[in-house]
Amino acid sequence: MRGLLCALLIAGSGVCAQTVTREEGLAAWDRIYAVASHPRCTNCHVGDQDAPMWEGLGFGSGVPHGMGVKADESRIGAESIPCRTCHVTAAGRDVASPAAPQIDDAWRLPPVELDWLGESSAAVCAQLRDPETNDGFDIAGLAEHLRSSAFVAWGFEPGAGRSKPVGSFEEMARDVELWGAAGSPCE
Ligand code: HEC
Ligand code: HEC
Repeated sequence: MRGLLCALLIAGSGVCAQTVTREEGLAAWDRIYAVASHPRCTNCHVGDQDAPMWEGLGFGSGVPHGMGVKADESRIGAESIPCRTCHVTAAGRDVASPAAPQIDDAWRLPPVELDWLGESSAAVCAQLRDPETNDGFDIAGLAEHLRSSAFVAWGFEPGAGRSKPVGSFEEMARDVELWGAAGSPCE
């Protein structure tokens, strides 16, 4: 039945591109931004500053990572103290704050253009919909990244003592598909 009604089904998602309105796309974007601007994401998505952040951990706002940690150009602190010294790569560890989070990927900062810390909804929206500034992803690729990234999975289940964004990585991936089907509106 659905195949008859919907000629353009977004691969694997069950989202019908023709039925998503601009308003629904904007509402999906607002939910995406609410996650992207949460400290569990912005503490790493810091743009071109060297230091990761320690916001939303009880140290106050605008507080950079303690112990003089810097990611530098390598984004893994190779030039000073490597992230892996404390953020050991390990699967399935539920590490409570204030210990260093550990995930099944090399803990590091994103490339500088994936800059969300302190950025407005309009700025993050423009960055995220443009493959030139989003690591080369189309909408399907972005949704896939959200479903498969160990960083994103950790952000939604960061362990005891850490606040977390509303929703799940699956809900966020679906919101990205809705937003994309509406033409990725920003405002
Ligand atoms: C000397 C040990 C040490 C090193 C080296 C280190 N970290 Fe951390 N990091 C910690 C600890 C401990 C915490 C937990 C703080 C808390 O929960 O109160 C932490 C937390 C973080 C957080 C915040 C997590 C959250 O809950 O939002 C980020 C982001 C982070 N580190 C990034 C990095 C990056 C990137 C590097 C390498 C450039 C790095 N860290 C190197 C010890 C370290
Ligand atoms: C520990 C650091 C870290 C945390 C925390 C983190 N990310 Fe990332 N993120 C990265 C890195 C590194 C990349 C670059 C791609 C890769 O290497 O996997 C990235 C890339 C991305 C991308 C790809 C495209 C783009 O334009 O940004 C998205 C989307 C993303 N992250 C979403 C999130 C969300 C949502 C959260 C919070 C729930 C989050 N990330 C938390 C490190 C992090």
